[in-house]
Amino acid sequence: MGKIIQIAPSLLAADLWKIGEQVKKVEDAGADMLHIDVMDGQFVPNISFGLPIVQSIRKNSGMLLDVHLMINTPENYIERFVKSGADLVTIHVEATEQVERCLLTIRALGAKSGLSVKPNTPLSDIVPFLQYVDLLLVMTVEPGYGGQAYIEAMTDKIREARTLIDKSGYEILLQVDGGIVQHNIAEVVQAGAQVLVAGTSVFGAQNIADAIYHLKEIAQQQDV
Ligand code: DX5
Ligand code: ZN
Repeated sequence: MGKIIQIAPSLLAADLWKIGEQVKKVEDAGADMLHIDVMDGQFVPNISFGLPIVQSIRKNSGMLLDVHLMINTPENYIERFVKSGADLVTIHVEATEQVERCLLTIRALGAKSGLSVKPNTPLSDIVPFLQYVDLLLVMTVEPGYGGQAYIEAMTDKIREARTLIDKSGYEILLQVDGGIVQHNIAEVVQAGAQVLVAGTSVFGAQNIADAIYHLKEIAQQQDV
């Protein structure tokens, strides 16, 4: 182990009335990246943010922007998201026939490439693409909404993903997203997760900065 655990607050749970203030808060509190959930109402049954949010945050913040595309045919939008300021673009393996091309495009545009799997998608589906991946996102809830409960069965999948990455020899970060809260941080970190997306448990907390310090503290204690 000995890996640095990173915290990625998910904007989905932020108070959008105070978006600038809230992003600054998580940045000042030492969050490692800002997770921005993009939903198209097709790939998932919900609609969230699009390009203008990424552009606006990019203009006003130095944070690493981690854009999670929950959209069909992401190939049509990758370039615009990177040009809008995304540092990391994650697509879903279930969302396109052109996974390899998408990942190569993201890298060619100078961003980091992420590949995600929904809870019921087996990891074998992403094996052919590992060489093009900088970050593997194992969804720990059904994508579409914040505030859902962590699916316990995903802990084994995280472990399996860790083994897959280690065996591959590629440098791939392992991210988890959905229902990550104080009491399951130890479990996911022990299973091998390195980047923890946290929406409700950060932006829904009374004190956002304290919540981040706390999550980081628990994560680092596990990762010895
Ligand atoms: C779900 C999103 C998540 C969500 C996580 O579709 O991909 O990023 O914001 O929110 P919490 O941490 O509240 O489960
Ligand atoms: Zn997400």
